[in-house]
Amino acid sequence: MPMPRFFFGTNTKMFQTHEESLQFVRDLQCELGRTDGAQLFLIPPYTSLAGLPDVAHETGIWIGAQNMHEAPMGEYTGEISAPMLTALGVDLVLLGHAERRQLFSETDAALRRKTALGLRSGLKVLLCVGETNEEKECHLEAETVARQLKVALHDVRQEDLSQVLIAYEPIWSIGEHGHAAALSDVAQTLAHIRHALFERFGTVADDLPVLYGGSVDPDNCAEYVRLEGINGLFVGRAARTARGFIEVFQRAFSGWLSHRMH
Ligand code: PGA
Repeated sequence: MPMPRFFFGTNTKMFQTHEESLQFVRDLQCELGRTDGAQLFLIPPYTSLAGLPDVAHETGIWIGAQNMHEAPMGEYTGEISAPMLTALGVDLVLLGHAERRQLFSETDAALRRKTALGLRSGLKVLLCVGETNEEKECHLEAETVARQLKVALHDVRQEDLSQVLIAYEPIWSIGEHGHAAALSDVAQTLAHIRHALFERFGTVADDLPVLYGGSVDPDNCAEYVRLEGINGLFVGRAARTARGFIEVFQRAFSGWLSHRMH
């Protein structure tokens, strides 16, 4: 059986100009070394997207957008649509990031429409799921991720499943106010995620990549990638510079490889 791919990427949130994103990709391309068996991606702000996929694709790096509107076009001032993204050669769209859910009131119902439209438009979808602090305190992790997955993926056809990636990101562990999750907690919720995916799609969902994110750093990354059912990492602060990205990637990838070879 071929070794599954390792996925690693970052969302640079509202932190990069177009020029800085371009430089970030160039720095990765110069300094990364071998990445065989790994799929890297960068999700910069919308204003960085023009021209960036062409550069990134020279070395197989995917470029993603941080969000999109649920309609393909229309009178929605300030919004960006799936066809606008595909016209730029963008590979994937990030949907349901914790900051979108928390700060911009994004609902599961809207994510259901966005997921279906993104896939229909030819984008890969990186769907984030994860519980709030309150849900964790009430032991609702399993119910929360199951609900988020079942609603957002409700209209996804089996044949489009290969274009879906999931990121488990506990909301309370993300960003500068977050803290790293215990391995045992992550392992447990990953199992709930795998179970919900199996319930929805059966065994074909076994191949669906599930990434982990939330306060991942150079010291803990190799531990997270050893967990059962994980296929990669989605990193914020620690990968905000190209140097940071490379350091976390290299540590995580070598941990992942050595774990799977033994
Ligand atoms: P963090 O962010 O790594 O800075 O916690 C993760 C994310 O927002 O996806």
